[in-house]
Amino acid sequence: MNYQEFYNQSIENPEKFWAEQANEIDWFAKPEQILSNDETGYPLWYKDGILNTCYLALDKHIQDGYGEKTAIIYDSPVTQTVKKYTFNEVKSEVARLAGGLTSLGLKKGHTAVIYMPMIPQAAFAMLACARIGVTHSVVFGGFAPHELAIRIDDCKPRVIITASSGIEIDRLIAYKPLVDEAIELAEHKPKKVVVLNRKLGARIPFKKYDVDYDALVYGSEEVPCVPVEATHPLYVLYTSGTTGKPKGIVRDTAGYAVALKFSMQKIYGVKPDDVFWAASDVGWVVGHSFIVYGPLINRNTTIIFEGKPIKTPDSSTFWRVVAEHKVSAMFTAPTAIRAIKKEDPNGEFIKQYDISSLRTQFLAGERCDVATLEWYQKHIPIPAIDHWWQTESGWPMIANMMGIEYLPIKPGSSGKAVSGYNIQILGENGQELGANEEGYVVIKLPLPPGTLLNIWNDNERFQAGYLAKFPGYYFSGDGGFKDDEGYIFITGRVDDVINVAGHRLSTAEMEEIVASHQAVAECAVIGINDELKGQIPLALVVTKFGENMEHFQLQYEIVQLVREKIGAVASLRDVVLVQRLPKTRSGKILRKLLRSIADGENFQIPSTIDDEAIIEEVRDEFIKAKIGSFK
Ligand code: COA
Ligand code: AMP
Repeated sequence: MNYQEFYNQSIENPEKFWAEQANEIDWFAKPEQILSNDETGYPLWYKDGILNTCYLALDKHIQDGYGEKTAIIYDSPVTQTVKKYTFNEVKSEVARLAGGLTSLGLKKGHTAVIYMPMIPQAAFAMLACARIGVTHSVVFGGFAPHELAIRIDDCKPRVIITASSGIEIDRLIAYKPLVDEAIELAEHKPKKVVVLNRKLGARIPFKKYDVDYDALVYGSEEVPCVPVEATHPLYVLYTSGTTGKPKGIVRDTAGYAVALKFSMQKIYGVKPDDVFWAASDVGWVVGHSFIVYGPLINRNTTIIFEGKPIKTPDSSTFWRVVAEHKVSAMFTAPTAIRAIKKEDPNGEFIKQYDISSLRTQFLAGERCDVATLEWYQKHIPIPAIDHWWQTESGWPMIANMMGIEYLPIKPGSSGKAVSGYNIQILGENGQELGANEEGYVVIKLPLPPGTLLNIWNDNERFQAGYLAKFPGYYFSGDGGFKDDEGYIFITGRVDDVINVAGHRLSTAEMEEIVASHQAVAECAVIGINDELKGQIPLALVVTKFGENMEHFQLQYEIVQLVREKIGAVASLRDVVLVQRLPKTRSGKILRKLLRSIADGENFQIPSTIDDEAIIEEVRDEFIKAKIGSFK
């Protein structure tokens, strides 16, 4: 069947289509109700099915006779370690960790936060929670205690699972003091903190709530998988929204398992036993779906890579990993390719490795610019597939479905709608736009299985943020257009979310932090184009009357404040002082106008602006500070 026929089936008869896909996984009780609605009318998949994700990822393969196959390869250039784990070994550790967590009082219906670097124990912790029906919330290790505290207060974990340290290019990051600080900041106090001592020399301040990871695992018996309902939340994953408070995206169990199996086979085109590598982090949705659950459910070997595309030790790392572990399909963010391209423009390192095992390169997390795609294809002539998705969707929404039909690539487009996603482009008033007309990217309900179930403890925000703008549709927050052949081009976020080196961040949250500085009267944080990271934040600040702090001092303090509250990953480096901010007559800051000025794009002066002269003032400050296109 070709792509179009397959896609049409999923849209014309979603219930039949997804009933068939449900046969691809094992159930403790097979669902009879394929598609139904919750009390608000939002679609639910496989409501009466019973299963367990950890069972699908581990136990099933062992029962099928694949226990001695490699499940996980831990490759860590920063500790110079390569370690392989079979399905038997992973299951043994996960089942005992699950036993240990049970002995700490954790059970189905509870939550646990996982704050870990890219080590196998991060995946073990996720799988152990899944095994006993505990909903996990993984927090990216680059987030500061303040961010961790926000998540602790929102999802109220009984236990936090962490490690003594993470490693960045040039430094060891002690995690335990950060966890302790977050617990101090949070109102909710977890009962226990399970700490894996990596023995790398990091400081591990002792607290009464500490439990040693190794002692817990080795002192516990294996426990079996707890059957859970289809809509039982496997995890909550926080992502940036348009306010200072991140949103806890809730993922179901059954729809997600079916969607991941489907993705591995039909989108990524990989077969069981293939080595699949998503070079991302367990703290992001890519890590959940395509480092941990997807590949393991599909019985692929997955790679947990603790390093960066460059400087660990150099820009050959990716190709070394591909060659050494015979990776079939790989996933990374375009920013990683841009970083490699900058260090190795002629691809000399690529030639040093036999990367012939690599069949397909997948790219996502941000827009893939044409220059990056072309560089990749010039040096590695295999399909380089851009594909579009979000934390909310949990799996790709636009792609080239490599397991169905490889369609010609159109640079700049992330491909065509994936089966199950009826993607439309709407105008401001909800009208469907024609070919090549730019508008809001939306998906007609029902969304397919595996997509977001809700926002944790906040259905109102879920309804308001995603469903209210265009009734009957899911609003993605992205803008874009569809050409006359159905290829979709994503043009970027239409809200205050920015994408910095593939990391999704909220400018509204940064604004709140910048505004909290005692010298700041008013501020705006916008995302501007950046050659390496795609986008970086820029803060514009109006100081309080009479404030005469030197610019460099103020900039330093604001940058430190953002690093302290959000984390270094926010990458705020530039703070520009302005006399006034351009606003509408009703007082709304014209952020889009500011972005266009910084990026050197053509713009129309909004008719609602209260004083046009501010545009020149701002431009002069950007020129002086060598910002964006004025570098
Ligand atoms: N723990 C602690 N700190 C972290 C961190 C973590 N897990 N991840 C990043 N940071 C810190 C970095 O050390 C850096 O700190 P610094 O400002 O003191 O140098 C800062 O956050 C910014 O990090 P990063 O965005 O990674 O920038 P970089 O300059 O170190 O590296 C790239 C640039 C392009 C190599 C890197 O961003 C990259 O590999 N990007 C790919 C992203 C990706 O895979 N995203 C997932 C979506 S698919
Ligand atoms: P996240 O939830 O962190 O995965 O970020 C999702 C957002 O990243 C999307 O809403 C897009 O704005 C952006 N994004 C992800 N993949 C792509 C892509 N292939 N092309 C363009 N934008 C993308």
